[in-house]
Amino acid sequence: MSSAVKVLVVGSAVGQIRELFAKIKSIDAKHGKFDFALCLGDFFGPPKDASEEYGQEEDIIQLLEGRLEAPMECYIMQGEHPLPAPVIEKFAKTGGALSPNVFLLHKSGVLNTAQGIRIASLGGIYDSNVYTAADSAHGFTSPYFTSQTVEKLLANTMTSSKPQERNYTSLAAIASSTTPSQLVDILISNAWPAGITQFSSAPLPAPELASIGVEPVAEIVRKTKPRYHFAAGGGHPPKFWEREPYVWEEDNARVSRFVSLGAFGGEQPSGKKQRWFYAFSIAPLTPTSEPPPKPANATQNPFLHKALKRPLDSGEDYRWGNNQQPGKRSRTEEPSGKPPAGYKCKICESPEHFITDCPEREKPREGYICRICNEPGHFIRDCPVKNAVGDTGGKKPREGYVCRACGSELHYIQDCPVAKQTGPREGAGRRGPPKPIAPDECWFCLSNPNLAKHLIVSIGSECYVTLPKGQIIPTHQGANHPNAPPVPGGGHVLIVPITHYPTYLAIPPDLAEPIIDETEKYKSALRAMYAKHGAVAVCFEVGRMSAKGGHAHVQVVPVPTKLKNAIEDAFREEGRTHGIEWEEDPDEALRACGGGRGSYFRVDLPDGRKMVHLIREHGPFSIQFGRQVLVSVLGMGDRYDWKACTQSEEEDKEDVQAFKAAFAAFDPSL
Ligand SMILES: *[C@@H]1O[C@H](CO)[C@@H](O)[C@H](O)[C@H]1NC(C)=O
Ligand SMILES: *[C@@H]1O[C@H](CO)[C@@H](O)[C@H](O)[C@H]1NC(C)=O
Repeated sequence: MSSAVKVLVVGSAVGQIRELFAKIKSIDAKHGKFDFALCLGDFFGPPKDASEEYGQEEDIIQLLEGRLEAPMECYIMQGEHPLPAPVIEKFAKTGGALSPNVFLLHKSGVLNTAQGIRIASLGGIYDSNVYTAADSAHGFTSPYFTSQTVEKLLANTMTSSKPQERNYTSLAAIASSTTPSQLVDILISNAWPAGITQFSSAPLPAPELASIGVEPVAEIVRKTKPRYHFAAGGGHPPKFWEREPYVWEEDNARVSRFVSLGAFGGEQPSGKKQRWFYAFSIAPLTPTSEPPPKPANATQNPFLHKALKRPLDSGEDYRWGNNQQPGKRSRTEEPSGKPPAGYKCKICESPEHFITDCPEREKPREGYICRICNEPGHFIRDCPVKNAVGDTGGKKPREGYVCRACGSELHYIQDCPVAKQTGPREGAGRRGPPKPIAPDECWFCLSNPNLAKHLIVSIGSECYVTLPKGQIIPTHQGANHPNAPPVPGGGHVLIVPITHYPTYLAIPPDLAEPIIDETEKYKSALRAMYAKHGAVAVCFEVGRMSAKGGHAHVQVVPVPTKLKNAIEDAFREEGRTHGIEWEEDPDEALRACGGGRGSYFRVDLPDGRKMVHLIREHGPFSIQFGRQVLVSVLGMGDRYDWKACTQSEEEDKEDVQAFKAAFAAFDPSL
């Protein structure tokens, strides 16, 4: 445990900043040396009205002006109040540093500390109406977090905020260093997660705490599995409560702990001050870390199991509807008739019966995943939720789907009891993308002022084509690579629908045709252009329904014709080592993902055949997989990390000019 990091966590200061710093200093002297402190909840207390100024001698101003020094590195967050205007201004300027030692975490913040500890923070309070009705992630001027705040937080956990220097010598090294993981070491929030008191026998300091938890925070815990979760908002005034640990068996027996802290500052009406600080050591985990020992007092994991009976007054349970009650349905077997000519049962290959009638299907083969609930171990006909009520029959969404009404990933919005309660909302019948993310947040929306417009090479009526930042094919540096196809400007491009949809298959069917047509036209044009330069085209799409709400696009990469026969093998070979299975019937698999029902990875091989992998919940899939395979085919391991391949805007523009000139004869938009 030589690399263990010592952390001090303190409850809400509520404006008593100088006093808190003094206490932190004396705790550090007695129990330290701590690496950093996490200051939960309300650091500043309620903000003043806009009409009132903060005085020069007030702690806030002294802190912001560097006249009040923190005794160690302190990370602070938003609690239940909006933040004071001068704090927001400073945050806007610096991105977080309020003073040399005090760092304000974003409302949906994820941060890796210098010691290698990953911290996520969710600021603000929960209100069910604001949560579902808000159109954006509220900022620090609002006390609330919204569904977008939570989506953003989960999206932030998918990206590594600390790009490391990498030197790839093997694909295995690439894979292990880029496996996207949403896990965090420490989560801090104001709100409690729903269900946290379940299975615990640690006495609650106040009975009402059993029902203050909220589902969106529970969702964050399920996704990020924090080893420590600290919450500041445990009642008024906040109470101290420490839950027994619980374990995530499937994640290397990861152990989680939850601690609610009392406040340091603010009104303390009842005589005895609640415990307001907590000190602990934590060592960064690596993929090769031994599973931790299971604590003797560990309980069942409250986020994985539902108690059989919940008290009726618990209030929060309505979210779970009837979707999750195993052992209740009656099993009905529909006779399926005889299959059409050419059909073959996938289990025994008999043409005589549908797979559903196969006598050999009592038990699914290893790796079979039920398509209704996405769980292994039973067939669809035996699925415990197959007859569940709800507009989609209780079908469990695929990875990354987030019900926009309640933030749950366990049901589609059509099945959401919250959405039902609030009735049809404005625009509910509207077509098109249900909730475009703000254009300034989307990398691919033309309306985003931050889009790298200088890389665009063609704009059609439905799609545009752009060189990516850091394309695979080297143009300036390393352009003489033996496998670099001589396509002017490199030739690696993205085809992007102008309207924001998360994936191609999520485009509503009646709007999809012109977009798909134009995309195919661009693919054909690129194939023709590459052919002129001795190259074939490999197209791939990561069709991921992510919490982030990505923007559909297809990548097209030229590969020298002499390598064309290596491509399919490379996808299969690399797929095997990464647990990526290719569907036997790609078209059927794509149909199964229609309407945004699922995530998929699609490859168009140079001969026009498709390869499709259905991205499964908890399945291994790196969004860089396509790039990884192609750099291996091209023998360009050093071109794997796009960030390492970016070049100056001047060089980009030269590539764009060269590409446009060569593409002009083929461009369907001209
Ligand atoms: C990367 O690895 C190669 C091959 O092992 C080596 O020659 C090169 O010096 C390394 N580069 C860096 C920056 O470490
Ligand atoms: C669980 O056990 C550990 C180790 O004995 C102890 O420190 C901790 O306080 C216990 N937690 C609860 C909530 O009882």
